[in-house]
Amino acid sequence: MFLEALKGQNRNRPPVWLMRQAGRYMPSYQKLRAKHSLRDLFFTPELAAEITLMPIEQLGVDAAILFSDITVVALPLGMSLDFNEGPVIQGSLKRESIEVLEPIAKTIRMIKAQTKVPLIGFCGGPYTVARYMGGDPALLEPITEATLEYIRMQEAAGVDAIQIFDSWAGEMADFPSYTPYLQRLIQSARVPVIVFMRGSCRYVDELVKLHPTAISFDSERPLHELRPKVPMAVQGNLDPDLLYQPLPIIRQKTRELLDSMGSDPGFIVNLGHGVKKDVSFEAVKCLVDTVKFQ
Ligand code: CP3
Repeated sequence: MFLEALKGQNRNRPPVWLMRQAGRYMPSYQKLRAKHSLRDLFFTPELAAEITLMPIEQLGVDAAILFSDITVVALPLGMSLDFNEGPVIQGSLKRESIEVLEPIAKTIRMIKAQTKVPLIGFCGGPYTVARYMGGDPALLEPITEATLEYIRMQEAAGVDAIQIFDSWAGEMADFPSYTPYLQRLIQSARVPVIVFMRGSCRYVDELVKLHPTAISFDSERPLHELRPKVPMAVQGNLDPDLLYQPLPIIRQKTRELLDSMGSDPGFIVNLGHGVKKDVSFEAVKCLVDTVKFQ
């Protein structure tokens, strides 16, 4: 269903998955997190695979997304990576082999052996990754090159699609001059590519020209208003704060989104940004169930 929607050929209900669907709002994740560092969770294939599969088992979403982080690409760039409140990247550029990310390829193979649900791999957009490395524009080129290799590695390991998370790119003063970096990532992909950016509704024309398989929109504008401008699949775009509301409101707003998109064959239900850490599991389940069972 998810892969059909990416092609714009879905004849069933729209598929649903959520950015950051495996995470701290889940008691089962908290349990593992209490025992292991984030670094260990991301780089121990058995643990990362187990976490990736939690939303498949507990929510019944229509796609899995690899449990990892956009900042892991710091490692093939020779920098150190740690997690405090957020990612902490240190050191200077020194190309290393992409093989340092082999545990992630192994994670992908383990997940593929355990589920038939499509698996989304991902990478950060160069601008967003550069921001976590201090923001020097000279980083864009090496980040792009390492990311191209990393995408290739994920594809070889078996991901069914790639999502590019360029959360912060929309805030750039001159977004159009940046798009060649995104374009290289999109063009190189051999599996369908989804582009996510906050503020994507302000750059629809630029993004459409890059020909991704799908564009993921944040919650700034109603999706049905943007739809006519997008000749490919669209993903989104419920407000992540909706998950703090009582269940009847979650049901109502989700139904409103579904109704507004009709039987669109290229529509994937998601949030406008990731699931927040302190929402209730029941709220997330309610959203998913509303899409699946109306
Ligand atoms: O969607 C998924 O479930 C896959 C997992 C995933 C993570 N990070 C796990 C994570 C994905 C797709 C990301 C992407 C990511 N990481 C982005 C782009 C999307 C976005 O949210 O804007 C960015 C900017 C990052 C960088 C990052 N990583 C930040 C800012 C933080 C700290 C804030 C936070 O959300 O926790 C992280 C840490 C991180 N990434 C955790 C996880 C599960 C830590 C959670 C924990 O402490 O247990």
